[in-house]
Amino acid sequence: MEYLGVDVGFGYTKAFDGERSVIFKSITGDATDIQFQSGFSEGGELENLHVEINGKQFYIGDMAEKQSSVREFTLEQNTLLENSAKVLALTAISMFCNKSNREFSLVTGLPIRYFKQYRSRFQEMLEGGHTIKFFGPSGPEERNIEIRKVRVLPQPFGSVFNLMMNNHGRIVDKDVARQKFGVIDIGFRTTDYTITDRLRYIERGSRTTDTGISKAFSLISRKIQEQSGVNVELYRLFDPVKNGSIRIRGKEFGLAELRDEVMRQLATAIISDMERLWVEDWDLEFILLSGGGSADLAPILEKIIEGTTRVVSTETDMRLTNVIGYLKYAKYIDLMEKRRQMPGGESLSTSDSDGKSGEDSSTDTEAADTEAADTETVDTEAAGS
Ligand SMILES: Nc1ncnc2c1ncn2[C@@H]1O[C@H](COP(=O)(O)OP(=O)(O)OP(=O)(O)O)[C@@H](O)[C@H]1O
Ligand SMILES: [Mg+2]
Repeated sequence: MEYLGVDVGFGYTKAFDGERSVIFKSITGDATDIQFQSGFSEGGELENLHVEINGKQFYIGDMAEKQSSVREFTLEQNTLLENSAKVLALTAISMFCNKSNREFSLVTGLPIRYFKQYRSRFQEMLEGGHTIKFFGPSGPEERNIEIRKVRVLPQPFGSVFNLMMNNHGRIVDKDVARQKFGVIDIGFRTTDYTITDRLRYIERGSRTTDTGISKAFSLISRKIQEQSGVNVELYRLFDPVKNGSIRIRGKEFGLAELRDEVMRQLATAIISDMERLWVEDWDLEFILLSGGGSADLAPILEKIIEGTTRVVSTETDMRLTNVIGYLKYAKYIDLMEKRRQMPGGESLSTSDSDGKSGEDSSTDTEAADTEAADTETVDTEAAGS
């Protein structure tokens, strides 16, 4: 069985197994028959995702963006969950399926706003056996996967576990586990705020807002429409925004200045939400900036926020900050379970770690010891309520 972190975001779907990650745009579309393939630069598997799930065919990611006539790229969580999340997640998971492995244990996340409402629904959607047919250059290939267990965390906790654990699920930063700090996870559509105090989820300081990067993209798109008359869909703006220009019907439009201006506005909006939400929490040790949006916004936010800010790591693609943490958490649970099975192992742990898929306001309460030789325990309570 393989442990996998899976993060279905509004912008991108991400999965990570400890060594390899896959990322594709969270777009699904109808699969039309392509009558002619030029054979030139048709890219790898990720650029050509064409799958069949429950008898229905889809193009996914880049392929849907380029080839589908009806595309589902949604900014609504309900629609994302009902229509696309399962297809996106199963596609990502099946990319880790091979001859020696087809069984998975997953850790995934939901935005804080939707955690309570959708947690069990999301689990039920994914748990069990699934068949995904992949259409590749050498014809269709069926992949049968078995999802044994799904654990769902409030999304920003991915970043918390990422910061404090190593890839084997060991707590390497004990200070983090003992401190009170805030997390701002800036995604494509949403920004999630949360406070953890000794790894306890603090409800008062936790919220999901709609101030994601797409806010800035909408403004940019509106400006482009004013100037060119063309309504550019948001997901077609990723590259132009990065490159600072867009070419429409042969004409080049500069975006760099506009981008810098709207990013500054977005940063200001995020900070005023933060100040309102955390008005009583002036005792935060630091603020952790995560999510793909931090790649653009952290440099601006760091200058404005009073107090210490941190990012998980500037080396990794910031879009992966949560999903890497999900995987670390999966490894951590595995470690705890193995220890419990060892003779005398129970004494290391103060409570049952097994998912407790229940109804609770404290999802997972486990005791973690940081090193085999070190029996000090730290209660982690990654919660959702
Ligand atoms: N290499 C990259 N390619 C594309 N976008 C990137 C890259 N690095 C950072 N980004 C930024 O990451 C953002 C998406 O971040 P992320 O993947 O965390 O969002 P999401 O999880 O899909 O959205 P949400 O959390 O709202 O559901 C993009 O809007 C873009 O600004
Ligand atoms: Mg996200």
